[in-house]
Amino acid sequence: MIGTAAPELIEVTRFAEVAEALRHPKLAVTLDERSVPVRGGTVLRIDGEAHTKRRRLFNRLVFRGGHQRLRADVLRPAIDRELAAARARASADGRGRLDVVAFCYRVLTELVATMIGLDRAQMRTDIEELFRLQAELDAFPRFKTQLLGAAPLDTDGEARVEEALARLRVAKDAFSDRWVRPALAARRELMRRHQAGEIGDDEMPSDLLTMVAAHADPAFEADPDLPVRHAVIDFLHAGTGTSVGAVAHTANELERWWRDHPVDRERRTDAAFLSAAVYETLRLHAANPAEIRRATEDVTLSAGTRIPAGRFAALRTGMAHRDRDAWGPNAEAFDPRRVPPPGAAGYGLAFGAGAHMCYGLPLAVGDDGVDGNIVLLLRSLYEAGMERDPDDAPVYRPGVAHADLRNFERYPVLIRATA
Ligand code: HEM
Repeated sequence: MIGTAAPELIEVTRFAEVAEALRHPKLAVTLDERSVPVRGGTVLRIDGEAHTKRRRLFNRLVFRGGHQRLRADVLRPAIDRELAAARARASADGRGRLDVVAFCYRVLTELVATMIGLDRAQMRTDIEELFRLQAELDAFPRFKTQLLGAAPLDTDGEARVEEALARLRVAKDAFSDRWVRPALAARRELMRRHQAGEIGDDEMPSDLLTMVAAHADPAFEADPDLPVRHAVIDFLHAGTGTSVGAVAHTANELERWWRDHPVDRERRTDAAFLSAAVYETLRLHAANPAEIRRATEDVTLSAGTRIPAGRFAALRTGMAHRDRDAWGPNAEAFDPRRVPPPGAAGYGLAFGAGAHMCYGLPLAVGDDGVDGNIVLLLRSLYEAGMERDPDDAPVYRPGVAHADLRNFERYPVLIRATA
């Protein structure tokens, strides 16, 4: 119910406590009915056995060589194609121009569409329309904190949330009609032919909608439309926006770093250096304002923070990553030479921790940090000669007040006209 006062959030900001809370069995992800239109039916909003089962299913798409295959078969060719297109548009000054944000959205959408089982060719044709719909969906997380915010919303605030929810519903319906329903119907037909012996195992795709068509998780079918529709949209959202942000922010942090450390510019195509830069960027630019959890019983964290049963906690990973007790006196600074605290990954809790830790981690950073999508994108761009366009400054998306949570709307760069 939008009209009721929001419950007070308990802030968790210390690195050790956020890490502990993310793994705590009594801090659940299941939220209130207000968040249902946003994330209901997604893996991030189910707990316990149903969650373990869904994750096992999803893991099949990225583990056991899945993420490398997706990178080799889809992402690399898409990057090469888009770079060639930018070179072909090069102007008389011999420089190609591209916007890193649009470039990354394009190629990553293609990758995630393949994981889901959406038609890639259609996706490419309709991609502008998809971006428009996605922008409607992307605008929504800003309201998430308001939905669970410390203060009750005033009448204006309530009206804006209602309006955003209505737009979200329309955008999800449009998306579902245009892409999800036809793709699922095509997968069901494939499954029928497979069961009739007309096509073999090796011809069956490995994607989310094929799993749904194979009835691999009855929860998806319980309501014939809702869960799969939310899950697909959430996948597209989670699988693109965070990585796009990471590429643009890393390029931006590196520009600043190279001003004071010019010799490191030589390392711009070195995967190990880029990986360290990506980890630092992920540490400093949190994907979400907070991960929200609700206590199913009274919980007391190790530094004394109490979360009584039924109350919500905001686990502030962004603030935890600036905790000097864990990350040292220069915790605020971007430093690709940083040694992370014992037991922590270089990216800290950027992918969460515990049962709901990011499913896309192997895609984003690979098996060992150097072979993931984000490093591949950055390396390909630097190999193509990427440098900031001096005549076209980067633009931040409007409407996000907190500097650490801002994302780029455009990040224009120059590349060489020849490969
Ligand atoms: C830089 C890239 C990424 C970052 C920083 C990121 C961050 C996160 C975080 C912090 C969570 C945990 C949220 C919580 O505990 O409440 C999460 C969960 C999730 N992420 Fe990512 N993510 C990234 C890339 C991806 C990709 C590429 C995909 C899929 C293609 C993906 C899909 C998911 C899913 C499905 C979940 C929910 C997992 C569950 O609840 O079991 N993410 N992500």
